[in-house]
Amino acid sequence: MKGEVHLKKKVWIYAVLAFSLILSACSQSSSGQSDQKKSSGKLEIFSWWTGAGEEDGLKALIKLFKEKNPDIPIENAAVAGGAGTNAKAVLASRMQGNDPPATFQVHGGSELNDGWVAAGKMEPLNDLYDKEGWNDKFPKQLIDMVSKDGKIYSVPVDIHRGNVLWYNKKIFTDNNLEAPKTFDGFFKVADQLKKKGITPLALGDKEPWTATMIFENVLLGTLGNEDYQKLWKGEMKFDDPKVKKAAETYKKMLSYINSDHSSRNWQDASQMVAKGDAAMNIMGDWAKGYFVNDLKLKVNEDFGWVPTPGTENQFMIITDTFGLPKGVKNAKDVKQFLSVLGSVDGQDAFNPLKGSIPARTDADVSKYDEYGKQTIKEFKEAQLAASLAHGSAAPEGFVTKANQAVNIFVTQKNVNQLIDSLTQASSELKK
Ligand code: GAL
Repeated sequence: MKGEVHLKKKVWIYAVLAFSLILSACSQSSSGQSDQKKSSGKLEIFSWWTGAGEEDGLKALIKLFKEKNPDIPIENAAVAGGAGTNAKAVLASRMQGNDPPATFQVHGGSELNDGWVAAGKMEPLNDLYDKEGWNDKFPKQLIDMVSKDGKIYSVPVDIHRGNVLWYNKKIFTDNNLEAPKTFDGFFKVADQLKKKGITPLALGDKEPWTATMIFENVLLGTLGNEDYQKLWKGEMKFDDPKVKKAAETYKKMLSYINSDHSSRNWQDASQMVAKGDAAMNIMGDWAKGYFVNDLKLKVNEDFGWVPTPGTENQFMIITDTFGLPKGVKNAKDVKQFLSVLGSVDGQDAFNPLKGSIPARTDADVSKYDEYGKQTIKEFKEAQLAASLAHGSAAPEGFVTKANQAVNIFVTQKNVNQLIDSLTQASSELKK
């Protein structure tokens, strides 16, 4: 009963959030230039990188910028909450009120292009790319993710990998286990761990995007790259037997998670693996930043990693980018910041701390640890898949509804209901 009330409350919160996002998107489409400026006049860098595992890279980048530009006052305007849970709502209301931050974190792909660019809120940056000679310094696929109709709208600071299964090495060694690469392997290992009283898989879905991340990984691992892409283009239906199979697999995986998942965030779940309270978790490689910077774990000694089941040679790509909103006062300074962010020095200050790899292809590989080096190499060889949970694969309206559906699924484990909800939500996908 209590769970039901809790669930209803959550559904309401999502409904209200989705409605306010739609409202703000509607009023954005009229897109006037800013006439009421409320920002401090400082160069405001807006993101959700605060606290554990998140802020070290940003701080290093800001420090570098200050060294190079001591006369430009800068303000770190980060709003806490993983994956932009709170920051995105604050940003939407500021954009709606014609009070954009000088520059803000936005994922390449749909979030940028079908969101702020389509609403007429961003300035193109082709001139900056030409001036900095960036057109052949970022991979073409990445430039495509930040472009619409031939215009480039933001500068990628990183490439995160979203299909990583992290595991506690001691637990695996002590129990004579190998990190699983297939779903069968996962369930085999999970059963053995469960028998020993060890929680096989840590989840912290207090913010629901983490559960969506596991689901998108199961989709990629089950469908393969081509069909996974078809889903977001509306070319494969959500009631396809393959999607149903993925939902069944996900349901089975959920029987191996910690019971207190809904009260934990992603850091709390990662911490379970770090401390040996759980054997594995599935999280983007910002978790590596958290393991190393905050929890002082040693790469490939205390924790190991493999691609999530069935996704070897696949790279679930998440790229954090920054652009120039229309109507900001200090556009020249913003471009100055973007120049540093897009430079080799900027990328190599940020990424080794963040857990990500550089977006540029000519960064200094020696600055990266064993995980980073391996990921830089694998990125070049892998097939890319855009993340749904992080807004690259599909428009915000769909992501919000998918998060809601997956969140209900984690509690109710009703495959048909999940398929129905996703099918209904698919009207939000681009035609
Ligand atoms: C993602 C973002 C990452 C990381 C993560 C957790 O959306 O791209 O950089 O911050 O959220 O908050």
